Amino acid sequence: REERRKKLYEACDLAANFFHNCLLKTSFGKVGLEYLKKRGLTDETIEKFKLGFAPDGWDKLYKAFRERGIEESILIELNLIRKNEKGQAYDFFRNRVMFPIMDGKGRVVGFGGRVMDDSTPKYLNSPECQIFEKGKILFAFDKAYKSIREHKQAILVEGYMDVISAHNKGVTNVVASLGTAYTKDHGHILMRQADEIILAYDMDGAGRQAAARAIELLQNTDFKVRVLAMPDGKDPDDYVRNHGGQAFRELVEKAVKPLDYLLSESLIKHDTNEAEGKQAVMQDIFPFIANIHSQTVRDDALKALALPLWLDNSTIFRYFRNYT
Ligand code: GTP
Ligand code: MN
Ligand code: MN
Ligand code: MN
Ligand code: MN
Repeated sequence: REERRKKLYEACDLAANFFHNCLLKTSFGKVGLEYLKKRGLTDETIEKFKLGFAPDGWDKLYKAFRERGIEESILIELNLIRKNEKGQAYDFFRNRVMFPIMDGKGRVVGFGGRVMDDSTPKYLNSPECQIFEKGKILFAFDKAYKSIREHKQAILVEGYMDVISAHNKGVTNVVASLGTAYTKDHGHILMRQADEIILAYDMDGAGRQAAARAIELLQNTDFKVRVLAMPDGKDPDDYVRNHGGQAFRELVEKAVKPLDYLLSESLIKHDTNEAEGKQAVMQDIFPFIANIHSQTVRDDALKALALPLWLDNSTIFRYFRNYT
């Protein structure tokens, strides 16, 4: 069993080298390199993240790996190849730029692959296997942990490109949870390095939902949490590319406390001149406040609703008692 794990790690590493080599050293990889350059990445960044390209043939990786004597079952377990109904093997990742996923020790354990146009699915990702548990891995943690420790702060984003763009512009305390939401295990990974977590998710429906869930999971932990509402619906990659690393840092400094974030999200949706609007805001925020363990913090949170809702404290406390 240990022997098998070793083989899985070796094959993953070899695949990362294969894709990386295709990107940098082959004529058919040029489209991938151009794509990454167009997205603003430097050679250094491409090297640092060992980005790659999966060629457009049906079985280029398969053939190359069979020649090197890599077992088929290993490639299947890693989902690097699949078999059609006739039992013919074909490469899973084709004609995509490749993002190797490393674990905390820097070992390659899986891949994300992106199309270079707007076809779908935009990303293909390795499924979980013996060496790859998504909930336990933060993308780029192996490259970010020193900087996270220095800043005592981790910036959590959604996508591969958000992480890579930030690092590309010198903001290196950035990691991503892989498609899956933030988990408690991610917290344990970050706990040893950071006091503060900045949530910098996309401001689309999925990102907002992910932020709300992360806020819930991070409540009553030892982390300080702040939320960064990216301006005009952009994601961190867009922002960093257009405004640079320094501007992104300044934005991070302006990130707000979870309650203020949730409140401003709710106030946009509801008209607090109307009684129903006030009710709706309270319905949005009370679950968060009810979850706060400390009574004084809870009371302070309730008082923070008074001003924006134009209600006095005692009214808000009464509504809250009825809610809980
Ligand atoms: P870019 O368009 O390259 O900037 O990607 P993005 O990171 O901005 O994409 P998006 O905000 O749509 O998604 C965030 C993350 O969710 C991605 O980095 C992927 O990890 C994941 N994701 C996005 N699209 C897909 C998809 O089609 N399939 C799967 N499995 N995951 C996806
Ligand atoms: Mn290299
Ligand atoms: Mn998104
Ligand atoms: Mn995005
Ligand atoms: Mn993006």
